[in-house]
Amino acid sequence: MIVGAQWGDEGKGKIVDVLAQEADYVCRYQGGPNAGHTIIFGGDTYKIRQIPTGILSGKTAILGAGCVVDPEVLVGELDSYGDRGTFWLSGNAHLIMPWHVAIDQASERRLGKLQIGTTRRGIGPAYADKASRLGIRVQDLLDPKILRQKIEIALAEKNLWLERVYEAETFELEDVAERYESYARRLRPYVSDTSLLVDEALRAGKSVLFEGAQATLLDLDHGTYPFVTSSNPIASGAATGIGIGPNRLDEIIGVAKAYVTRVGEGPFPSEIPSPLQERLRELGGEFGTVTGRQRRCGWLDLVALRYAVRLNGFTSLALTKLDVLSTFAEIPVCVRYVLPDGTETPHFPAHQSDFHHCRPVFETLEGWEQPLDDELPEAARAYVEFVEQELDVPVRLVGTGAERERVLARS
Ligand code: GDP
Ligand code: IMO
Ligand code: MG
Repeated sequence: MIVGAQWGDEGKGKIVDVLAQEADYVCRYQGGPNAGHTIIFGGDTYKIRQIPTGILSGKTAILGAGCVVDPEVLVGELDSYGDRGTFWLSGNAHLIMPWHVAIDQASERRLGKLQIGTTRRGIGPAYADKASRLGIRVQDLLDPKILRQKIEIALAEKNLWLERVYEAETFELEDVAERYESYARRLRPYVSDTSLLVDEALRAGKSVLFEGAQATLLDLDHGTYPFVTSSNPIASGAATGIGIGPNRLDEIIGVAKAYVTRVGEGPFPSEIPSPLQERLRELGGEFGTVTGRQRRCGWLDLVALRYAVRLNGFTSLALTKLDVLSTFAEIPVCVRYVLPDGTETPHFPAHQSDFHHCRPVFETLEGWEQPLDDELPEAARAYVEFVEQELDVPVRLVGTGAERERVLARS
């Protein structure tokens, strides 16, 4: 299991890519094209949104039932990379329909200053329809008559919302039905019982990787609600999203940046003030993969990471982008929060007001002020060991650059 330990963009794609070299299956269990996973090898850069990144390495790639699927994005990625590996798609996954994207956009516009800062890819509205039992699923693509009927029923309601509530453009049944029928023709051969496939792979002793998208603090139930995504990226989400027992997850690797970034709105205690924040953003190239937005940057937050350890049961951590900190003489790390009532805590606040108004307590660690190579300099090693001690979880992988080769294994 590879899970984002912060607010996303920790470098999950890269860590999955590294570990996929030894794996047979790579599966996504939640989220949709709100993800943007960057993989760099052989001089090429790939930015993947919907399909599991293992497809690039010739593995069997699976999209599980817990995912939401934008067929246009998926077909595009299959056109580009489909012939490199094998791909299967759960019939229980939900489809992102054009009205989901339109409602996501209109709803954010309407919220104005209160907006969540979503990726505007229709994720929230698609999961909302799933929970309301109004969703259209991948298996509905298998029968043109059923597909058309479901689109017609949904449109009767969605067009009213779009027109009357959001004052937005409506959709024509014929256009949507035709478009989705053409996606259906392309996607039908890939639809399969992916829960069974993964179970059989595990029974046959194959190595199966689960590729988390989004991250722990964006989890719908345990993240910084309402500034979260609409699925469960945390480790247990893999069991639900794929359809296997939770006891099948034996190794759970949390991916954390050596600092923190966040895209979109919401509280962020260790956010760095200007102009230092801009310096870190430039050094780390912190601009969104999907939306191109600037990522907000903060110092490593061990209170939030400790919470991620609790929620996921990490057996180890991958600490990425340590190289980005190489030019700082001193590096603050947040070890506790001061709550509004003046008390200090090492634990993530359970109440939103405490989290919104807490202040970070920093411990300052020494920088190493030299590029990272195969051997970590003393101060960089001390930084990694500090994280291990504070969290009581071993850091087994350290990222020292964006390319596949730039990762150190620690025993
Ligand atoms: P994901 O969504 O978690 O897969 O992460 P993204 O791909 O959105 O963002 C991570 C960015 O950091 C990408 O541009 C990666 O190429 C890059 N990256 C990953 N690991 C490292 C690392 O160890 N060092 C550096 N400098 N860049 C890294
Ligand atoms: P990867 O997999 C970073 C954020 C959005 C917004 C919130 C809700 O690349 O780490 P949504 O469109 O999901 O309804 O937006 O979640 N968000 C991400 N931030 N990385 C991601 O994915 C994200 N996916 C969603 O910015 O704040
Ligand atoms: Mg990303």
